[in-house]
Amino acid sequence: MIHSLSNVLSKNIGPNTEVWQFCVILPEAVVGDNCNICSHVFIENNVTIGNNVTIKNGVQIWDGITIEDNVFIGPNATFTNELIPRSKVHSSDNMKCTLVKKGATIGANSTILPGVTIGEYAFIGAGSVVTKDIEDYGLFYGNPATQKGYITTEGIILDMEKRDADGVQHILKKE
Ligand SMILES: CC(C)(COP(=O)(O)OP(=O)(O)OC[C@H]1O[C@@H](n2cnc3c(N)ncnc32)[C@H](O)[C@@H]1OP(=O)(O)O)[C@@H](O)C(=O)NCCC(=O)NCCS
Repeated sequence: MIHSLSNVLSKNIGPNTEVWQFCVILPEAVVGDNCNICSHVFIENNVTIGNNVTIKNGVQIWDGITIEDNVFIGPNATFTNELIPRSKVHSSDNMKCTLVKKGATIGANSTILPGVTIGEYAFIGAGSVVTKDIEDYGLFYGNPATQKGYITTEGIILDMEKRDADGVQHILKKE
């Protein structure tokens, strides 16, 4: 479903993806299947978005940003692709790519600085400023975002020793 109040110029939108009101998707963007693109989302050209991705309201996905499968992007999260922007000064040297790996969550109103990689199933708390790469399953928040623990694929919050609130030790994938 592509809402009639949106301007979707890309033909590369998965069949079960929903695009709600007042979105703009430029022609070369690729959006996978079964995504939910909420209202007021802007997706530029050099963007690849996987399957089962949720992008809440008011998010812009700029050139050079890749979002893998099953990622959740909270409302008004802000991506960036130029570290030192100046009006009317464009240089590809200044553009940096950002990768959000599968299953990651980005909390509402977070800011993701250019060139970072957010690891698989990582979780960024609301209002964070992400300045560095985030490890897989890492729970990070604050400004600048720092690691506060880990999180399971199901969303169980773990401390830095990977213990849950009941003290049970969890083993995360890849260990
Ligand atoms: C990161 C998050 C999962 C942490 O949850 P939690 O482990 O239950 O955290 P707690 O409420 O126990 O808070 C632990 C401490 O961290 C602080 N804290 C929690 N979230 C924070 C955040 N996003 N930024 C800064 N500090 C935060 C709390 O104030 C508390 O501090 P204190 O120990 O000094 O009292 C949660 O707060 C969060 O940000 N969720 C994302 C919500 C969101 O963006 N949803 C989008 C869809 S609407």
